Amino acid sequence: MDSLCSMWLVLLFGVYCEAQLRKEAYMTVPNLIKAAGYPVEKHRVYTRDGYILQMHRIPAGRRIVRRIDEPSAKGKKVIIIVHGLGGSSGDFVIMGPEKSLSYILADAGYDVWLANLRGTDYSSHVNLTKNEQKFWEFSFHEHGKYDLPAMIDHVLNVTGQEKIIYLGHSMGTTSFFTMMSTKPEYNDKVSFCVAMGAAVYLENVKPVAKLALVNLNITNMMRERGVWGIHPSMVQGAVKNLCTLNQPEVDLCTNFIFSIIGEDREQHDLDIFPIYLHRIQMQPFRSLEHFGKIALTGVFTTFTGGVNGPVKPYNLTNVRVPVTLVYGENDQLTEKSQILKLAEELRSIGVLEEVRPACSWPKFNHFDFLFAKDVGKLLNKPLVKLIDKLYNKYNTA
Ligand SMILES: *[C@@H]1O[C@H](CO)[C@@H](O)[C@H](O)[C@H]1NC(C)=O
Ligand SMILES: *[C@@H]1O[C@H](CO)[C@@H](O)[C@H](O)[C@H]1NC(C)=O
Ligand SMILES: *[C@@H]1O[C@H](CO)[C@@H](O)[C@H](O)[C@H]1NC(C)=O
Ligand SMILES: *[C@@H]1O[C@H](CO)[C@@H](O)[C@H](O)[C@H]1NC(C)=O
Repeated sequence: MDSLCSMWLVLLFGVYCEAQLRKEAYMTVPNLIKAAGYPVEKHRVYTRDGYILQMHRIPAGRRIVRRIDEPSAKGKKVIIIVHGLGGSSGDFVIMGPEKSLSYILADAGYDVWLANLRGTDYSSHVNLTKNEQKFWEFSFHEHGKYDLPAMIDHVLNVTGQEKIIYLGHSMGTTSFFTMMSTKPEYNDKVSFCVAMGAAVYLENVKPVAKLALVNLNITNMMRERGVWGIHPSMVQGAVKNLCTLNQPEVDLCTNFIFSIIGEDREQHDLDIFPIYLHRIQMQPFRSLEHFGKIALTGVFTTFTGGVNGPVKPYNLTNVRVPVTLVYGENDQLTEKSQILKLAEELRSIGVLEEVRPACSWPKFNHFDFLFAKDVGKLLNKPLVKLIDKLYNKYNTA
């Protein structure tokens, strides 16, 4: 947040801190990409159950002059990047060209496709509006069963490639595993997967899930009031009224968020954090409940029958592509112990490529994958080297 945005300004002139956010808080993702000097394309993808998703493609880096008749060079390395809960394609561009993964990959010769799952600003439905409950009753089950297959088919169709590289953060990894479990034929369309902060086992959040979903029954209580998720306006209202984000040491909001994702003051970016909170997307209750069911049962289970319904594990043995798991040492949401548990399972079925820390920084938390002050140097530049290595290993044919 701007240093001008101090309490006395707010009090004297009634200025909202929000009004002083940088323009990055308000720009669309395609405009952000254009402003950064990269080519960008918007693609409309239809899912089998009627959702319309907008993908954002960065087909080339800054320094490469693209021939208009040849938008994607043959043999180009195609990668799809999938965001987490409350996120969007914007998660991978708002840090700018030196830091954000999309740009570093594009400059390294990748054809970058940013996914937008149903529920983001870049999604709609052929028949339903966002005011209808039916629009919002989905979780990573539907992301994996409908959204990802539709987007992957579209990308393969446009690029003429046979396989894509898959990279996900948080729920973007959960969706990968639900896709492979429910539609194993997609193993043939992915060469390898890099999963950052994989959210498959969540026993560490069991107490929170129990309190919110069982004891307080918050989501159903809210549904009865016509609310289908944590709406961005609720977050922005809280930020405006309760938070002093520019003083993180004393700010209740920052400390609350740290308690969920892991504390990392050193890498906490004061400029970017309010922008992220301003760009946050609706978090549907169904998605939170599905994560809650996984936390409560300790099983990577479907949502069949709801939170209290039967436990029906996703069949992870259907995963047949190599998976690299990347964890944050101080990620309190997708905790290392839980990622190591997933790693054991993937190892036992022979698909674990590697499980590795994001970097050597011991306080690396769940958001640092996207917004750490030094995310370019700490994570993304080495990550692109890793992806290069895996690409050469698995795409030699
Ligand atoms: C949308 O509505 C039309 C007309 O009622 C119907 O034929 C179609 O199946 C609906 N599509 C979806 C995905 O619900
Ligand atoms: C691929 O693109 C062609 C031409 O635009 C279209 O006719 C076809 O339906 C597409 N296939 C898929 C699977 O999207
Ligand atoms: C939560 O609320 C819903 C609807 O109000 C109700 O049907 C359900 O039984 C409640 N669940 C618990 C665990 O209290
Ligand atoms: C899981 O999938 C594997 C093969 O992909 C199959 O052999 C196994 O029976 C399935 N397990 C269950 C519980 O459905």
